[in-house]
Amino acid sequence: MTTHNMPINPTGGTLKGVRGMMLTFTDDPFLRDESQCYKLYNDGLAVIQDGRFVDVGEYSDIEPKYPNLKDIDVHEDALIIPGMIDCHLHYVQSPMIGSFGDSLLDWLNTYTFPTESKFKDKEFADEVARMFFRQILSQGTTSANIFATTFATSVDAIFEESERYNTRIISGKVLQDRDLPDSLKDPNTEGSIILTEELMKKWHHRGRQLYAVVPRFAPTSTPLQLQLAGELYQRNLDQGVYMHTHLDEVQSEIDWVTRLFPERKNYTDVYDYYGLIDRNSVLAHCCIVREEEWQTLHRNGCGVAHCPSSNLFLGDGEFKYWEAKNQERPVKVGMATDVGGGTNFSVFRQLGEAYKVAMLQDHSLNAIRSLYLATRGAAEALHLENTVGSIAPGYEADMAVLDLKPSEFAAWRLQFSDDIFKKLFVLMTLGPDNNNRATYVAGRKVYDRDREQQFLYADMTL
Ligand code: GUN
Ligand code: ZN
Repeated sequence: MTTHNMPINPTGGTLKGVRGMMLTFTDDPFLRDESQCYKLYNDGLAVIQDGRFVDVGEYSDIEPKYPNLKDIDVHEDALIIPGMIDCHLHYVQSPMIGSFGDSLLDWLNTYTFPTESKFKDKEFADEVARMFFRQILSQGTTSANIFATTFATSVDAIFEESERYNTRIISGKVLQDRDLPDSLKDPNTEGSIILTEELMKKWHHRGRQLYAVVPRFAPTSTPLQLQLAGELYQRNLDQGVYMHTHLDEVQSEIDWVTRLFPERKNYTDVYDYYGLIDRNSVLAHCCIVREEEWQTLHRNGCGVAHCPSSNLFLGDGEFKYWEAKNQERPVKVGMATDVGGGTNFSVFRQLGEAYKVAMLQDHSLNAIRSLYLATRGAAEALHLENTVGSIAPGYEADMAVLDLKPSEFAAWRLQFSDDIFKKLFVLMTLGPDNNNRATYVAGRKVYDRDREQQFLYADMTL
């Protein structure tokens, strides 16, 4: 696992502090005693230099060590957490989020494909990327694994906007060369791989940007495209390139894959056969998964994205975290919005939906486990657990500041819950539109709900 040790926000060594109640995870609470998996600082202080945390702990222990630390943001009635990480979403679907659909495949054909076809136009792509980033940052999401679409313009637009904020994202050109409208389809299979390689050279490890090989899903790629995509992924795996796709979302999709690839054992085996299942692979949904598929995902160290609001909205199927987190062969899981199948941009609001999805199947999901899936668990699913998703020395200094008084009613209600995890569960369940007050990226407050200029690019000063 690479740790990205270069300064990511050079400030000439100036120290910056952020103070308030603080929560960060150190281990997986699905696999170990929950009380041993997190650190909670009641009055915490995070010290940041050159975009990274250099020290974290209780204010009374840390502050005396840094006589030169003058610039401290104090957040009262709030909980500071690592910036949330969205393991799977489509920025190109922002213009059609919330559209009606009879089923996943109908919804894709009617709304998704026509919308994605418009991203050949760079100006349109730029406008959507700008709006998209404002949504995720305002919700406290600082890293995301993002689908673009077929066109290079759609990839450049999202990375350019990410670079302006200095966020760590993963994205890449979507590979799709069959069973789509001509306006969206890759016109040439070999050409689609050459273009992917060019974009990878341009964007992978440029600042905090990371590149993924992205076949949309098995049915919309020819066997040749899957094969070439797998070869490209394998050639670049050691450089930390990703593979990102959909898997086992809904039964009609699985049936389609079975018809197209009758010689393969199961859906996961289709990807595995073409070299697409490996340690940097991220698979979205995984609602209807056979035991042998979980074993393949475990053996390869793949990450899985749980997309509860999308699965409910599209009537897909239900994710089973207790299967994914089987102690014998655990699989890495992170939370995801899957915008535009998901109905909002908030990773935090997914947690309330994930609880309901579990409850429908005689399980539940508490606040400790949920918050882990939104932060450190998601970083593990994206193979970035040494880089983001924790407030600890050496990590990139991305944070969200959750408001514990986001509305008159929520503030009143929360006084009746006596510990922070009970309060967090209530907040997840009441689901205010947005309970994030501020967002830090590489130590800079790029979003502040209460500031006149709410959003700041990395090179802007107030
Ligand atoms: N499977 C293939 N493409 C998509 C998509 O855009 N959204 C969802 N939810 N599932 C998919
Ligand atoms: Zn998706």
